Amino acid sequence: MSLPELIIRPRRLRNSPTLRRMVRETTLSVDDLIYPLFVDETINEPVPVSSMPGVCRLPLAHVGKAVQEAAALGIPGIILFGIPTHKDAVGSEAWNDEGIVQQAIREAKNAAPEICVIADSCFCEYTDHGHCGVLHGEQVDNDATLENLQKETVSYARAGVDMIAPSGMMDGMIAAIRTALDDNGFSNTPIMSYAVKYASGYFGPFRDAVDSTPSFGDRASYQMDPANAREAIKEAMLDIGEGADMLMVKPALAYMDIVAAVKEATDVPMAVYNVSGEYAMVKAAAEKGWIDEKRVVMETMLGFKRAGADLILTYHALDIARWLNDE
Ligand code: PBG
Ligand code: ZN
Repeated sequence: MSLPELIIRPRRLRNSPTLRRMVRETTLSVDDLIYPLFVDETINEPVPVSSMPGVCRLPLAHVGKAVQEAAALGIPGIILFGIPTHKDAVGSEAWNDEGIVQQAIREAKNAAPEICVIADSCFCEYTDHGHCGVLHGEQVDNDATLENLQKETVSYARAGVDMIAPSGMMDGMIAAIRTALDDNGFSNTPIMSYAVKYASGYFGPFRDAVDSTPSFGDRASYQMDPANAREAIKEAMLDIGEGADMLMVKPALAYMDIVAAVKEATDVPMAVYNVSGEYAMVKAAAEKGWIDEKRVVMETMLGFKRAGADLILTYHALDIARWLNDE
């Protein structure tokens, strides 16, 4: 039997590492990484997060060292989450100029002035009920929460933050924050909006890490329905219209179609959040020896880039930076 003559042979370009390098379409760089840090006002020593091996809550005194470690590896940005001692119904610690995140911002900027310090701006870590804003009955009151978000973000700006990242999925949050920042002399502080954030089971380990599991109900009345894709474009466009400098899609792995669609529809830099549950699954399987952690993590990151992400928030950031720097 004779075979047909093959003119086009894709394997020709896979024949050596050099050729593969020359035709590679997507790259991952340390420049793409943002490293999340949990700062806990109630502790004096780092406390491991059991569902996130390799991740600790840090006391304020350890923030500088952690930020320097990231900066030394070439990581350009960190994002801060705070766990305050005092929680109340509205989350008023969030706009205390001496609050835990405000202090952590100052520590981080002192330790590594060149690193981009981003503050996650929400209320679920600060409220005693764990919801992302002020309650009116069992619902989060959108507009009352916006007023508090203005106070919170201006306070972070006064502490010296480089970028604000509101994650509460309140309508109008970008316009409210932009106005407040501009009115207070911070018109150069950029906003990275968690514009497209789904009500996800993948946030489970994070809520353990920061004690923000809602005491009743869920976040489905403000975070997006996982079934919706067109609505992601609506949310992205609204936030750009309100002045968002960058967008985020979150979670990442189950939403790659959304990442690609938002990238296609917009013209601002886009981040994806490789969230706690995605991290926990990889760590658990790797601990059992069922997957090759480095290989799977790098493949996943490349997938985010291929889908269109410009930046990746990930708990793997230090490991990835080391692997890239070793190459
Ligand atoms: C707070 C916030 C959450 C995450 C980032 N900011 C949790 C939530 O909405 O419940 C999740 C991060 C992760 O899972 O790694 N609004
Ligand atoms: Zn929240």
